[in-house]
Amino acid sequence: MKSSAIAHSNIALIKYWGRSRDCDPCLNIPSNDSVSMTKCGSSQDTHLQTHTTIDFSDAYEEDIAFLEGEILTGRDMERILRVVNPLRECANVDYMFKMMSRNDFPTRAGLASSASGFAALAIAAVDALGIDFSKEEISTYARLGSGSAARSVHGGFVYWSRGVSHETSLAEQICGPDEFDMCTVIAIVHQGKKDVTSDVGHESAYSSPFNEVRIRKSQEQAKDIKKAILDDDFSEVGRIAEENCKYMHAVMMTSNPPLFYWHPDTLRLIKSVQKIRKEGPECYFTVDAGPNVHCLCRREDTYELQKVLEKMECVNRTISAKPADDSFVTKEHLF
Ligand code: DP6
Repeated sequence: MKSSAIAHSNIALIKYWGRSRDCDPCLNIPSNDSVSMTKCGSSQDTHLQTHTTIDFSDAYEEDIAFLEGEILTGRDMERILRVVNPLRECANVDYMFKMMSRNDFPTRAGLASSASGFAALAIAAVDALGIDFSKEEISTYARLGSGSAARSVHGGFVYWSRGVSHETSLAEQICGPDEFDMCTVIAIVHQGKKDVTSDVGHESAYSSPFNEVRIRKSQEQAKDIKKAILDDDFSEVGRIAEENCKYMHAVMMTSNPPLFYWHPDTLRLIKSVQKIRKEGPECYFTVDAGPNVHCLCRREDTYELQKVLEKMECVNRTISAKPADDSFVTKEHLF
């Protein structure tokens, strides 16, 4: 019972920040709908993807998992079990498992490694256990490991409805990777690990007085951005994505304790994006729970934007990414 899968990370255009207060927090049911682009790195050295192999067998005496060759324990292992245990139950299997996972990009550097990681895990585990699930159903199990992983189960542009229960909080594809023209150039300003993980950050969202407004506005923005994607309106998608990003960071900064994910260079880049936009190529920024800035642009402008950003002193390096294909099961096993 062995299977392997590959999934890509995603960048949220409408952010998930904070869990629903009406549901069990372990279910990672968000307080608002979110929208993202699943992204595939355009260079040879990074596709922004995770490759995971999982094997269920009576040969194993205990569950064991490795990420980048390191054995996972504590909270990390707990999150894996949150995905695998209910699937094992579903398949009526009580074998122990061995899992190995590899990212082709830096882990925990604001590049959403857990999104691709838990999406790949859910896909591989469902396949290994022989469960007949749709991608939407698989997204609900990926969500149990990391909320944003629900969206990485699909390629292209994705809508995660907050729902009201485990079964209804699922991700669906809005359109495929070639159906809307948007790419991102990620400006990496700082590669260190995060001080506060998003997992912990979600807990603090409600302590900000602005969170209620953010939730209400995010619901509107998620619907509006979906429409703009389907209308092929790049400028409107960029405008809404920027607005939503500012709302999330305003909540982070005004939470108790406050969370400042931005680095001084993050703000420098935001200002540059606003300036570049006026002169061309047209671009918009968005920032997740980390210091790196995603600069959203049309595909034909990727190279030019990358060159402009790479000239800036505060930019360590850039990674350009396009919308990714769907996650998939592969015969290439890691062990
Ligand atoms: C800011 O709980 O999905 O990226 O802690 O990495 O598992 P991990 O992330 P998750 O929170 C994601 C928060 C966000 C916004 C988003 O992706 O929607």
